[in-house]
Amino acid sequence: MISPEIYIKRALKAKRVDRVESIQTLWSGYGEIVRYQVHDSGVIKEPNPHSVILKSIRLDKVNEHPRGWQSQHSHERKLRSYDIEANWYENWANQCSVSERVAQCHCVWRGEEAIYILMEDLDASHYSIRKSRLEVIDCFAVLEWLANFHARFLGVEENGTSFDLWPRGTYWYLSTRPDEWQAMAESPLKAYASKIDLAIENASYKTLVHGDAKVANFCFSADLRQVSAVDFQYVGRGIGVQDVAYFLGSCLNEATLSGNLSYLLEYYFSELSRCLMARGESPDFAEKVVTEWDALFCVAWADFHRFILGWSPEHAKNTAFSREMATKGIECILRGDR
Ligand SMILES: Nc1ncnc2c1ncn2[C@@H]1O[C@H](COP(=O)(O)OP(=O)(O)O)[C@@H](O)[C@H]1O
Ligand SMILES: [Mg+2]
Repeated sequence: MISPEIYIKRALKAKRVDRVESIQTLWSGYGEIVRYQVHDSGVIKEPNPHSVILKSIRLDKVNEHPRGWQSQHSHERKLRSYDIEANWYENWANQCSVSERVAQCHCVWRGEEAIYILMEDLDASHYSIRKSRLEVIDCFAVLEWLANFHARFLGVEENGTSFDLWPRGTYWYLSTRPDEWQAMAESPLKAYASKIDLAIENASYKTLVHGDAKVANFCFSADLRQVSAVDFQYVGRGIGVQDVAYFLGSCLNEATLSGNLSYLLEYYFSELSRCLMARGESPDFAEKVVTEWDALFCVAWADFHRFILGWSPEHAKNTAFSREMATKGIECILRGDR
């Protein structure tokens, strides 16, 4: 197997490559995100040395790990998620503009034994701040990113076999979680899980969702006004409010959420509408998208809450607010709005 250093050296025609630090290990230590310094690259001119990030996954190690039949499904999904992320960086990331900034990809290597994704170091491009919680005012930059991203890819077609992202984005939709659904105590949410799932799947307006848009997957500029996203393992078709619900739940506490939700949603939807019109869509079309997704916000929330209840009912995310939102989602389904 080609070593990361040699791979980077060749890919960037560099004279020297130094490993700087490991940022994170992935998947039981079989993968890693590492920062390297590249000296005298024939491809990247400035600055010298230049900082890059390599996300690597060792397929040989992953595959030799013994696994029970039960977890085979999630194991294969996880494996596929790295392949999808590589597809994202190879074939999609360069369509994004500064308004929905993502790391630019230098190149991807797929061997029998490893996948390497070599990309821009966002820290070196002034997105060096990470957050685990946000103030309400700091949510706007991420909501803008999401609105721009969702507007850019609205109407993306699956196109049969040539579509190389997930046909359905996110890691929690119902058919990815049969065991968790079984494990749920009897409840309206368990009973309506399929209908909730169908309401999302049958939405008229689909786009790409990031699929894991928690606050930890956004890199912020020092003033917190600009963001760039990472971690595209679960990117695929869906509705924008799946990302919005999951993002807001990841960065605000219950009290802040319940006090500010309508304001935050209003902001997202007005941005979405603005972005769609800036892309040449009519106000009438933008309004149809907003109306549909607005009605589906609680349904998307309920869908994620269903996953939490099956996966870990004691989880901190199982809050009274979240249960209330899930109930609203079920009511929406019952009224036949969707
Ligand atoms: N291109 C990048 N530039 C700077 N930091 C990055 C980059 N890619 C990943 N990171 C950092 O590494 C962390 C983990 O990467 P991520 O792709 O999210 O892995 P995981 O799947 O383990 O969450 C991110 O939260 C981010 O802080
Ligand atoms: Mg991550």
